[in-house]
Amino acid sequence: MGRLLDLSLDKGLTGRGIAGDAFSESHLLLDFPCTNPPAIPDGTVRKPFTLSSPAPLLYHGGVMNKRSSYFAFFASLLLPLSVAAQEPSLSIQVNHPTVHVSPTLYGLMTEEINHSYDGGVYAELVSDRSIGFGFGALTNWDMVARGDSAVDISVDESTGPSTAQPRSLKIAVTAASQSSPAGVENGGYWGIAVRPNTTYTGSFWAKTDSDGLPVTISLENDATGAVAAKTIVSGLTGEWKEYKYTLKTGDTPATENNHLILTISGPATVWFDLISLFPPTYQNDGVTRIDIMKLLAAMHPKFLRLPGGNYLEGNSIAQRFNWKETIGPWVDRPTHESPWRYRSSDGMGLLEFMQWCQDLHMQPVLAVYAGYSLNHQHVNPGPDLQPYVQDALDEIQYVTGSTDTQWGAERAKDGHPAPFPLKYIEVGNEDEFDRSGSYDGRFAQFYHAIKQAYPDLQIIATAPVTSVTPDVLDEHYYMSAEEAYTMAHHYDDHPRTGPKIFVGEWATREGTPTPNLQAALADAAFLTGLERNSDLVIMSSYAPLFINVNPTAAQWVPDLIGYNALSSYGSVSYWMQVMFSDYLGTEVVDANLAGAGPRVFTSVTRNATDHKLYIKIVNATSESKPIRISLRGAGNVTHTATLVTLSGKTPNATNSIDDPRAVVPVKRTVSISGPKFEETFAPYSINVLELTY
Ligand code: AHR
Repeated sequence: MGRLLDLSLDKGLTGRGIAGDAFSESHLLLDFPCTNPPAIPDGTVRKPFTLSSPAPLLYHGGVMNKRSSYFAFFASLLLPLSVAAQEPSLSIQVNHPTVHVSPTLYGLMTEEINHSYDGGVYAELVSDRSIGFGFGALTNWDMVARGDSAVDISVDESTGPSTAQPRSLKIAVTAASQSSPAGVENGGYWGIAVRPNTTYTGSFWAKTDSDGLPVTISLENDATGAVAAKTIVSGLTGEWKEYKYTLKTGDTPATENNHLILTISGPATVWFDLISLFPPTYQNDGVTRIDIMKLLAAMHPKFLRLPGGNYLEGNSIAQRFNWKETIGPWVDRPTHESPWRYRSSDGMGLLEFMQWCQDLHMQPVLAVYAGYSLNHQHVNPGPDLQPYVQDALDEIQYVTGSTDTQWGAERAKDGHPAPFPLKYIEVGNEDEFDRSGSYDGRFAQFYHAIKQAYPDLQIIATAPVTSVTPDVLDEHYYMSAEEAYTMAHHYDDHPRTGPKIFVGEWATREGTPTPNLQAALADAAFLTGLERNSDLVIMSSYAPLFINVNPTAAQWVPDLIGYNALSSYGSVSYWMQVMFSDYLGTEVVDANLAGAGPRVFTSVTRNATDHKLYIKIVNATSESKPIRISLRGAGNVTHTATLVTLSGKTPNATNSIDDPRAVVPVKRTVSISGPKFEETFAPYSINVLELTY
């Protein structure tokens, strides 16, 4: 690391050069007047290190009185310095792969938090479509009374379309006409996005006391009152029934401040439930929002850890993610209270999660409820736990079973006869918080039952267990930037004798609502450690994934991807992860980074099939880093390489909903002089140098 040098001037001036940590970042600080830098031989000290004071200089106890002596001084100084702090260098043994890179290293983790689904990736535009959320209160529904019409709206606890949906929105219109209609409106999730020339698909359940009643449905702009689209659904009766409709926009501008409005034009009472409106969805899956899915697709994620997180556990056992209540028609889904302080529509149910995986070619990492909830309620191993174990086995059958099986048939009935691929089952979430000590026994009971029925499944534990060895252990890290820098080396000396590691949640918690450059630098440093050790760490996923950036939507910051009703953006860390995923490689290559200081990180991988070498350099310092790179055993190296850089002027640089591309990767071609070359990496930068060997 270098060492301390004392340099003194005799006439009362004292300089002190520190060749310790600071020096390893190419600083040598001298406090006395300096001009005319002496020439410094290549390969030694490169930073300003100049002095021309006529004052005699004390060095290691010796005295120099003459200007000419300075060169002798430097000559003597440079030798020890060049030993103490070498020039930053990266030596790569290209023909020496150390371990295989896990092909599943980068994936996604998801749960309902920060309006990740409702008001997020789940494309539904109407908020609180199940009436009676929030213990009977009417949330997000307001009366509409145009002209001299009169209307009262309320939650009717006595009637609803099904046992799962026992309540409804009662609209009692006492006066209305064609010119003065009355009804109800919904403002969506902090707005409803309207786009030009778009077809929206809607539905609702309703009954009325006025047979044949027509309902007018429109999308209207809050600021201008402009009607972007309008349609009429006729034929309501006294029986609960589902109605479908479409709304088509013309050449309207794209806006987010719109309401969906349902009105009638005469006195009558109507009961509604499950009023819904969808825009076009990703690959027409009927489920997911296109812009957000495109951001995810660009990450090439290999898996989706679902459905949580705390969302799996619920605040209590009753509020767990009870998968059987999230399948089938919406009218049979009762919805449930999420631990993140709002009610989930459960539109994003088990089948929708699987469709999401299918859309993005990800494998599901299916977390099953394991008998522990956030209020520390737990189910003891043994007979009491058996129903939960059976629920997990049924869940696996719903996902993977043929249509001959009970739950495979159920999946086919729900519209997806083909089974989904499944390799990983996670038992619970963060069960180290279960202070009863029951996890060991609970895990073992799940493990044995699942292995017996599905011997090929890999089973993930969420806390260390001793009674059985899990295939994989899920570890979570929420860190400051400083901690992430340290954690970049966490797995370097980790024993390889236990289970494989899944870093199922991790993030540097700096920046809001999405991680800034400082966080992304630390995140990147952390990921270099996972890559170098991906024989052990086989999967990793940042968390949380999503945030609706409306301040009242947030429970947890920062989050990887932000959005409002109309648009979305990737955070700086998102772009870093796109880069790491784009240039993953198949084998880790032996690489030694020296003299670059503690805030520079690397991982080097190669792609054996196409002879690509990926050199990742994270420069988390405020200075440019020239690094001498030598490629050993590379054979011929092409004379050009691609350098992708993600950087910003300050660590606070960030992307936001208003400035979504302030910090994005920039690609350029650089020349490579041969197997030994120098490349300079910008301050605060994350880089991938791709070259062909
Ligand atoms: O990612 C947010 C929360 O952090 C997750 O729900 C939980 O697993 C962890 O504690």
